[in-house]
Amino acid sequence: MSNNDRRAHPDTKIVTGGRRKEWLRGMVNVPVSRTSTVLFDSVDEMHRSYPPQDGRPSYGRHGTWTQWSLAEALTELEPGSAGTKLFPSGAAAVSMALMSVLSPGDELLMVDSAYAPTRHFCDRELKRLGIATRYYDPLLSPAEVEALFTDKTRSLFMESPGSLTFEVQDIPGLAALAKARGIATLMDNTWATPMFFQAIGKGVDLSIIACTKYIAGHSDLMLGSVTAAPSHWTALVRTSTQYGQYVSPDDAYLAARGLRTLGVRLRQHELSAMKVAHWLQDQPQVLRVLHPALHDAHGHEYWRRDFQGSTGLFSFALKGGDAGARDRLIDSLELFGIGFSWGGFESLATPADPNGLRTSSQHDYGGPLLRLHIGLEDPDDLIADLAKALAEYPSAR
Ligand SMILES: Cc1ncc(COP(=O)(O)O)c(C=O)c1O
Repeated sequence: MSNNDRRAHPDTKIVTGGRRKEWLRGMVNVPVSRTSTVLFDSVDEMHRSYPPQDGRPSYGRHGTWTQWSLAEALTELEPGSAGTKLFPSGAAAVSMALMSVLSPGDELLMVDSAYAPTRHFCDRELKRLGIATRYYDPLLSPAEVEALFTDKTRSLFMESPGSLTFEVQDIPGLAALAKARGIATLMDNTWATPMFFQAIGKGVDLSIIACTKYIAGHSDLMLGSVTAAPSHWTALVRTSTQYGQYVSPDDAYLAARGLRTLGVRLRQHELSAMKVAHWLQDQPQVLRVLHPALHDAHGHEYWRRDFQGSTGLFSFALKGGDAGARDRLIDSLELFGIGFSWGGFESLATPADPNGLRTSSQHDYGGPLLRLHIGLEDPDDLIADLAKALAEYPSAR
């Protein structure tokens, strides 16, 4: 089994990735190894275990093959990358990636459609450290973003598609302009995962995933990852190590188990979500569906050019009514759970109110927004559930 063949198709890599023979020891899955202490045969051997090296355990916080295997599999999905660090949540992955590239006095350009806790980290923690954040509209072209660069801009953060409203950015265009100015590029790639968007190959320096979502896939663990281009690997390792970041082997094992079926799950999420999205487009109570794969989506041309697929998360705007009526519609759904996350096997519906958060891209969506995660249930059952709820919506009467 080849672990380093970066030419293989992603579907093959998710099956073979990180399954080194010496880690498997005859089993199909890399076993869970729980430890704090690693015992050595001699003081000399103990000294030689530092600094920690690939494939040789030294101390629990630096991980064992259980965590290394998952990290290696994620690295293999991003051709051209140097390595992957794991973090205890997606939010921790975002904040550690930012800390690895920013210093006091620097300025960060952050996309206005970023996941809300990403903003909070910038507005509270980075600010406290003397790092300024400016927010830019996700609909700006690369040239318009370039016009915002100053001598202090050290980092450009992208999230594509954006949280709640799903604008797709021109990632290769933005990355190329930033690179020419020595500005580090970070991207939250949770929606597409490297199955459908290989960020490092598109010029991004640090590709961030909340593995809590599709990688784990079963709504039963929290985990994040950052995969780095060679130029940004050393700083990422240093920051992650100095901040004592660690992921439990049990969670790493479960995430690796989820990863093995990522391809088939994502393609089913994609098919079912497209069916529901197209159906919603025809409903009189629906004003607009915000889904990157639909022709009228913001940045649809970039999605078509750069992505190999779409996943199960999108929003739609209701015609008429208000936030209260929208919330009652959500309450009346029977097959959709109400919860903050997404990326599991189950469908979810949540209110989406982006304008309260945003500072440089407030838009009138025409009506209240609702975000759906389309899970692995039969899409016709989900449509029937939505049809029943929409029939009671004020604009239907
Ligand atoms: C786009 C995006 N990035 C990051 C995160 C944070 O991940 P976690 O909940 O694992 O901290 C989330 C969580 O919802 C998310 O939606």
